Amino acid sequence: MNQPATAHTSQTAQEAALRRTFAIISHPDAGKTTLTEKLLLFGGAIQLAGTVKGRKASRHATSDWMAMEQSRGISVTTSVMQFPYNDRIVNLLDTPGHEDFSEDTYRTLTAVDSALMVIDIARGVEPRTIKLMEVCRLRTTPIFTFINKMDRDGRPPIEVLDEIEDILKIECAPITWPIGMGRAFKGVYHLLDDKVYLYEGSDNEAGGKTVTLDGLEDPRLKEIAGDYYDELLEEIELVREAGSGFDLERYLAGEVTPVFFGSAVNNFGIRPLLDSFVEWAPAPQPRETTSREVVPTEEPLSGFVFKIQANMDPQHRDRIAFMRICSGHYKKGMKMRHLRAGKDIRVGDAITFMANRREAAETAWPGDIIGIHNHGTIAIGDCFSEGEDLSFTGIPNFAPELFQRVVLRDPLKAKALHKGLDQLCEEGATQVFRPLHNNDVILGAVGTLQFDVVAERLRTEYNVNAGFEGVEVYTARWIYGEPREIERFRNRMDTGVAEDHSGALVYLAPSRVKLQLTEERWPDIKFANVREFN
Ligand code: G4P
Repeated sequence: MNQPATAHTSQTAQEAALRRTFAIISHPDAGKTTLTEKLLLFGGAIQLAGTVKGRKASRHATSDWMAMEQSRGISVTTSVMQFPYNDRIVNLLDTPGHEDFSEDTYRTLTAVDSALMVIDIARGVEPRTIKLMEVCRLRTTPIFTFINKMDRDGRPPIEVLDEIEDILKIECAPITWPIGMGRAFKGVYHLLDDKVYLYEGSDNEAGGKTVTLDGLEDPRLKEIAGDYYDELLEEIELVREAGSGFDLERYLAGEVTPVFFGSAVNNFGIRPLLDSFVEWAPAPQPRETTSREVVPTEEPLSGFVFKIQANMDPQHRDRIAFMRICSGHYKKGMKMRHLRAGKDIRVGDAITFMANRREAAETAWPGDIIGIHNHGTIAIGDCFSEGEDLSFTGIPNFAPELFQRVVLRDPLKAKALHKGLDQLCEEGATQVFRPLHNNDVILGAVGTLQFDVVAERLRTEYNVNAGFEGVEVYTARWIYGEPREIERFRNRMDTGVAEDHSGALVYLAPSRVKLQLTEERWPDIKFANVREFN
């Protein structure tokens, strides 16, 4: 899979083999932003610590839509961060965190080939991580794990690994093991290389490389570890015995995760992580379409859109569609077919993401992301090719977790409201449900900020003054089954049946209990919490 390219392979195959496209998954505050910044520093993509942090600081003002608008110019280019490392090309896709957690976060995970999970040693497995792992499971995404904040007192590492195994149902294979923790943190031992990396406070890597010792027998280690030395040897023995060791195939199958320990803020433990990551993480993988599997090395270009972002000037409805290239390559000015629209378009001004190169890149390869300018013609889930009718599957619409009823303040604006909501839906900014039994319009989201964004965009872009109020909806389920059974369901249910923006039938359950009862009453109907675009 990750074989080095030879002179006999095509340029597409060679370029694809170099790519590592991934996202970081974590609960807020585990250290995703800090780690992102250190990865970019290692990759030479940024020179200054604090660059990514600054962006995050501006994000905190997210309830202020204008501030979001202003920061958008930055966020478009930081949605994908590309950097070279050890002769590989790494594409790091940013998943929005914190308050701006949204469906984008989920969908971005469909555009990667692997993920890096960051866990805070003191907090262990947290709710957001559980959710994001569920999404990774849908496509058996291989997972690397970084256990962060070892410079602080946390929980025993073995306990945290047990928790990952129990809750996330993935086996842990420690590759590095911490020597002490908190004030007594001395470094990590690399179980495969038999090397000790010494932790030297905040300026690790400052002078180039971390100090390393050969093996556990090094007298300096005995000196540094002091009384803890024997215990350390025992612990490592235990870890070796307990773990089944690292198996590349099982990692690629999503069954086992290699685990690294460190301290992101102190730039420690990241180099061993990154070295192994570019080595083991999968290059772009084949992707399923409704008709066949597409292999990255195929020459014709193909790809799908997983994210839409409105551009700087909302009045012009200028949007950028983020397309993951699945096969072939993009050349500036090339013609490609927008399959849903059945139209060929010439793309001359796609944004490519070369964090450390200033000139606009002329080409992009499998695993890369390109941003295509459009005026609302491209929707999430849309596929592009050089002619063949390919619909990539597995780009999901997740059931929202928060629901609000739309309150239109100016009744004359109903038409504009519906138009605006439909367009915002196509962008993936929200989900709209229209109950069959009344005239309500219900919005669904996975993050609260999505509602603020919708209200503000309706006002500024569609001139519609709308607010929201609570509604008794616990969750949404897409309805699948035999057409006759669906018809019966539709007719028998007095309330709770709605259509989503695409006209698909949805059950809006008022409570968990009601959902359960309805599922029991209708055993021949599938109540799905995910709807795929294709
Ligand atoms: P996030 O993107 O996952 O939300 O986390 P972020 O990187 O912002 O980190 C959350 C907090 O944890 C930050 O502190 C950050 O400095 C701190 N942190 C990250 N890695 C480590 C680590 O290895 N050790 C320790 N001790 N702390 C770490 P903050 O106080 O919220 O922000 P700041 O004022 O330090 O920037």
